[in-house]
Amino acid sequence: MSSAGFAALPRAAVAGLRGSAIREVSELAATLPDDGRPPIPLWFGEAQAPAATYIAEAARAALERAEVFYTPNLGLPALREAIARELLALGRPVTPERVGVTSSGVSAVMLACQMMVEPGDRVVMIAPSWPNLTQIPSLLGASVETVPLHLRDGLWSLDLDRLLAALRPGTRMVLINAPANPTGWCIDADAQRAILDHCRRLGIWIIADDVYERLYFAADAAPSFLAIADTQDRLISVNSFSKAWSMTGYRLGWIVAPPSLMPHLARVIEYNTSCAPAFVQQAGIAALDAGPAPVRAMVGRYRDLRDLACDRLGAIDGIAAPRAEGGMYCFFSVAGCTDSLDLARRLLVEARVGLAPGIAFGPEGEGCLRLCFASEEARIAEACDRIADFMQAHPPR
Ligand SMILES: Cc1ncc(COP(=O)(O)O)c(C=O)c1O
Repeated sequence: MSSAGFAALPRAAVAGLRGSAIREVSELAATLPDDGRPPIPLWFGEAQAPAATYIAEAARAALERAEVFYTPNLGLPALREAIARELLALGRPVTPERVGVTSSGVSAVMLACQMMVEPGDRVVMIAPSWPNLTQIPSLLGASVETVPLHLRDGLWSLDLDRLLAALRPGTRMVLINAPANPTGWCIDADAQRAILDHCRRLGIWIIADDVYERLYFAADAAPSFLAIADTQDRLISVNSFSKAWSMTGYRLGWIVAPPSLMPHLARVIEYNTSCAPAFVQQAGIAALDAGPAPVRAMVGRYRDLRDLACDRLGAIDGIAAPRAEGGMYCFFSVAGCTDSLDLARRLLVEARVGLAPGIAFGPEGEGCLRLCFASEEARIAEACDRIADFMQAHPPR
């Protein structure tokens, strides 16, 4: 039988997924003619340097020991214990039984949503937001509603009353990422308490995306729902080795959930990945065994790079560059910009600086650009000089 005229399509939620506007810009770079100025790529959220050599060594040694077989669904006991110890040291009372190892932070978000979201469920989140946080619940058939952050006194800030009003009876879950990608916004413990109390009253699940919790510029870690919640609260924390240990390519993360969810999490992991690779889990153990000093040193460097980027960008006419409280991004607004994808393309082509367009983070991000400062001082300084020259050549109208 002929299939002429028949377009093979996936289910509607998949067909409706948007492509990444960040990739649209990064793919344009490959087509640029050489003008002697290689583009400075600051579009993706990852460190320029690879993970520490002792982390790579641990993975290599595990491979040499032939640690290449399935592990338990929830991960190696030694890694679950190391994660629980790490969290306890940060004031989050978590036992290893509540930790499930995942193959990345994004997989942890998917697993949490697969456990919690039914088609038609109402899910609330704060925007601008990392696109995966809106797209994953949508992919599972949820209807996603956003509460916008605002620029106030030079900082991204949340209208807490507006968020609480959006969390009305019947809402299935709220997804909170803080420190946030792309804004660097962070939530304080009082706001967390108010949200937790409200969600307890209404039976709403909180999914806390804590992937940037260690990249926090005021303390060793950002305020955490895990520090104030009870073990049985409807709270799932998702986390990752990608950012604090620069292990994006290792694809390793974890979930902390109430004890009653853990057998279900094990099954959902079984039907997604079955387990994270054993030798990668050994790399995770090595990262945690090194203690807090390497993370602290890296966050100190990021703080300086944040200041450099914010100061330089903020000095440019037409740019407002809020100082990120955490994370690895400067998310700045450009006066008169109504098409951030076009602006990001032009900055790449004309100024050879690769930034993520604000629209990639939802309509609330339009008019902004995201610069990842997890780089080196000279590169950030050069990128800011190029942006300044571009803005001078194209002053805001
Ligand atoms: C907010 C947020 N959550 C989760 C992740 C997932 O990171 P990974 O899948 O590399 O662990 C990212 C990555 O950029 C992120 O920005």
